[in-house]
This record gives sequence, C-alpha cells and structure tokens, in this order.
Amino acid sequence: MMFRVICPNSTSRTTRLSFQGVIVCGWALLSLGCGAGPQAEFKYREATDDLISDAERSVKSTLKDSFGTPNELVAWERFPINYGGIKGAVASAAGDKAVIVTLEGESEKIRNKTPILWLTGSVAGDKTPLVTVAGFNAETKQLTLAGVSELPNAGDRFVVGFGEDLQLGRHVYMKNCMHCHGVSGDGDGPTGQFLNPRPRDYRNGQFKFTATKSGEKATRDDLHRIVKYGIPGTYMPSFLLLGERETKVVVEYVRWLAIRGEFEKRLVAELSSDYSETSIADSVRKAEAAYAEKKKNKEEAEKPLSANKVAKAAASEFAKYSKEDLPAAIEETANLLTDAWTRAEEPDTVIVPSIHRVDDTAESRERGRLLYMSDKTKCYTCHGMTGRGDGAATEDFWPKPGTTEKFANRGLHDEWGNQLKPRNLTLGQYRGGRRPIDLFRRMYAGIKGTPMPAFGGTALKDNEIWDLVNFVMSLPYSSRQPSPAAGGNMAKLDEKPAH
Ligand code: HEC
Ligand code: HEC
Repeated sequence: MMFRVICPNSTSRTTRLSFQGVIVCGWALLSLGCGAGPQAEFKYREATDDLISDAERSVKSTLKDSFGTPNELVAWERFPINYGGIKGAVASAAGDKAVIVTLEGESEKIRNKTPILWLTGSVAGDKTPLVTVAGFNAETKQLTLAGVSELPNAGDRFVVGFGEDLQLGRHVYMKNCMHCHGVSGDGDGPTGQFLNPRPRDYRNGQFKFTATKSGEKATRDDLHRIVKYGIPGTYMPSFLLLGERETKVVVEYVRWLAIRGEFEKRLVAELSSDYSETSIADSVRKAEAAYAEKKKNKEEAEKPLSANKVAKAAASEFAKYSKEDLPAAIEETANLLTDAWTRAEEPDTVIVPSIHRVDDTAESRERGRLLYMSDKTKCYTCHGMTGRGDGAATEDFWPKPGTTEKFANRGLHDEWGNQLKPRNLTLGQYRGGRRPIDLFRRMYAGIKGTPMPAFGGTALKDNEIWDLVNFVMSLPYSSRQPSPAAGGNMAKLDEKPAH
C-alpha cells in the first residue's frame, strides 16, 4: 500500500513518499516532548559498512525508507506490530466538513489536530491530503474534519492517530531502556558496555526466555513479563512502576527494533559474500595465491585481475543485481519476518506440557537426578557434578558457531559472542521465571541463543522433564544432599555418574 507521509504542524510541511508505509513524524504526533528530545541516529552493523559503496547505500536507504529514523519513525504496515491509532469507518455525511463514524476503539482518545489516515475510498492512498480532526463528539460520533477538499463516502475506512503507540513506545524506550539497550537496540547503550551479561542486542530477533518452542520468536506476553519483572541476577531491572499502557507500547517498540535489526542482518548476509570489501579482498588474495602457486610449478597461468578491476566488476554486477534480484530479496526477508512474528502469537507455538506436573516426590527427584547425570542429557557436563555451574564444558575451548575457529577464551559463549556460564542451580535463582512451568519450558526449548540445549520432544519425554524440574528445584534446599553426583539422601551413593 502506498501512503503519503503525514507530517502535521510541521513547519516545512514535508510530504515525503515512502514506498511501504506511513511516515509518522516523530515529534508531531504526540506532545510528549519528542521534538525536544536528543537527535538520535540508528547505527548500522559493521557488516553493512563493509559492503561496497553502492550496496551499502542501497541497504541503508532501504532501511531508512522502511523504518525511518528514531525521530521520524516509519510504520511499515505489513509487519505484525500494533502501531496504534483508532480504526473506524464513515457511516454517513453530516454537513460539508463532518461525518458520522463508527469506531473500533475508545472514542474519548480522539483529540483535535490528530491526523487521519484513509485506508479506503477516494481520499485514500497517495492522494491523501493532510486530513486532521477538527472536532469530535463522543456521543453523536460526529467527526469534524480539517483539510478535506471532498467529503469521504459512507463505508470509507480510516485510522485516527496511526502510529501513536509506536511513538509512545519510542518515548518510553528512550527514557528507560536506551541507556542500556542502545538507540538501535544493539545492547550498546552508554551503560550497557560495562554490564555482564550484556543487555540484549535485539537485532538478532532472538530472545532467551520465551514460552515458545525451539526456533520460534518471543511472544508479546514473554516480553511483557520480562519488562514487568526484570531478569533476576542480571542488570535487567523490573519496570513494575511503568503503567500498563507504557509497558505494552514499549514491548511493541522492542519488537519493532528487533524486526528492523534482523531485517538489516538478513539483507546484509544476502549481499556480503559477493558485494563486501572483505569478500572482494579475499577473492583477490586467493586468485593471486593461485597464480603464484602455478608460476612456482612452471604451469601456464593467466595473470589475475587487479584489485581495482575486481572491485569495478563487483560494482557493475551489483548494479544488475539491485535491479533484478534485490527487490525480491527485500520482499522475501520481510515475508520471513512477518511470518515468524505472526507465528509467535499463535497458540500452538507456546509450549504446553502434555501432562500435569509429576508429583514432587523423592522418587521423582531421584529419577530427575539420574537423568541429570545421564548421557541422554549430559546436564552435568555444563552445570557440574555439584550443580554449581562448573562442569567440564566450562574448561574447554569452543568453536565459534558455524566455523572451525575457536573462541579465544575458555568456556561457553552465546550467539552474540559473549562469554557465559551455565547457571549455578544450587542458588535457586532463575532468570526466565521460577514457576515450575517456566523451568519446564527452559528445558523443553533450551535457552535460545545460548548453548543450553532443547530437550523437549527429542531427548526427553514430558514426564521426564517434570522429574528434572522437581530435581532442579530441590537443589537449593538440599544441604544434606550437596551434589547430583552423590545424590545425598536421595540416592545410593555407590551409583556412578555416567561419563
Ligand atoms: C540497567 C540496564 C538495563 C536497562 C535500563 C534495561 N535493560 Fe533490558 N536487559 C538488560 C540486560 C543486562 C539484559 C540481559 C540479561 C540476560 O541476558 O540474561 C536485558 C535483557 C532484556 C530483554 C531480553 C529478554 C530475553 O528473553 O531475551 C528484553 C526484552 C529487555 N531487556 C527489555 C528492556 C526494556 C523494554 C527496557 C526498558 C523499559 C529495558 N530492558 C531496560 C539490561 C537493561
Ligand atoms: C551445553 C551446556 C548445557 C547443558 C548440556 C545444559 N545446560 Fe542448562 N544452562 C546452560 C547455560 C549456558 C545456561 C545459562 C544461559 C543464560 O541464561 O544465558 C543454562 C541455564 C539453565 C537453567 C536456568 C534457567 C533460568 O531460567 O535461569 C536451568 C534450570 C538449566 N540450565 C537446567 C539444565 C538441565 C536440567 C539440563 C539437562 C537436562 C541442562 N541445563 C543442560 C548450559 C547447559
């Protein structure tokens, strides 16, 4: 859908055309002091800056057209984000500047001067003039319009204040979250750099503590819970004092930043192998090495192209690609993200145990202990024989995901490249929630983006996961049974741990 930018009260009255969405002028829609706010910029990935200049420009302008800037957000309609605003339809005309409407939201929120976006009818699409609210009577549902040249028809649909929630979300985020999570949601805010664990970098589209199955995104409820209660044992604070609406809209803004970030990441990954400075330098180096090798063996060989020529060839190759294939790559990436975030909200994406929690008896805990020490799970290799998070895996050098190259430091790392420790299970502090169902889900789907594996549906049956939940939850209280390996009063001491 093509929309024209709505920029009410703007001194310059800019109307930029955005090919996918509506530009919601950062400081115009809400009188929350957005305009006075600091001029902030979205940062780009290193990989984006590494692209050859035409490709880099192309990615950056696509991002800007599709998502805007922190002070001038673009709401790209296709994504499953609640951008906010009240939807309605015209019921009948009521004078030459007024209509009677039906609304899908709370009518008392309609304020004067709020812009109206027309979704259908003769005033819709790129012909949209700047129509705003000149008055609204909540009782008669009479909406008086400013800026209309012709009155819309009965049945025409519209949104009053489109983008208001995203806007408010940005405001809440900049005030409460930005100093840790960064303007772009890259986890690199001024305070964030000194924290361990680091604030989440949303741009992978990956969240750790979700109720959803492996490979699925976080639900709104997951993010809502995290914001409300924080993550115990980390610097992620609880925002209980934030109002319900503020929490809701900041969650929407986090989802939007995560989509923006992953969109950039995937698009750049598409281009990097052919159109980056690094890939070009690599191919030049390889060609030169092959040439030198052949020369050494006195074989016939053609002199490789100069770096300059290779770069020129890549640039002209990209010119072709950007016309023929880039639009499809953008479309595909957007589709993938739309599908993934839509699926996260579907009920069967959430992990629901097939059976109730197994009774928390000594027998169940003992079965859990044996599973903990088994080859099937190898929990002990990470969490240790004593459950203190000091298993043998924490002493090893691990390869970087998808490569054979190893991390410089011993121990486990997450998807973001940060070092992390398996949880000390004797402390009873759980980051993803301490209800039995939270622990069930942690073991079922693992902790996303970390080496903590998913066991549900594969290695373990639901009743076995419950036994493990019972066992794990008993660890902090079992001073007389100090270690899973020994089993204390729960198990025969002669039982050897599986190696
Ligand atoms: C003082 C720093 C700090 C502030 C302020 C902060 N966070 Fe966090 N946040 C963190 C840290 C640290 C983590 C990572 C914890 C971890 O990895 O276990 C995190 C993680 C998260 C996560 C990821 C949860 C998951 O399951 O992966 C979300 C979502 C989040 N924060 C949202 C917010 C929002 C929204 C705000 C503002 C309302 C906010 N944070 C403010 C430090 C902060
Ligand atoms: C390959 C290493 C590894 C294995 C194997 C492993 N874990 Fe973990 N586990 C981790 C890491 C790392 C974390 C911390 C992740 C984070 O929060 O960043 C963790 C966290 C946890 C947590 C804390 C959840 C929370 O909300 O804070 C529990 C409980 C847990 N693991 C239980 C288990 C159990 C039970 C098993 C075996 C069925 C197991 N783990 C196997 C690495 C592992």
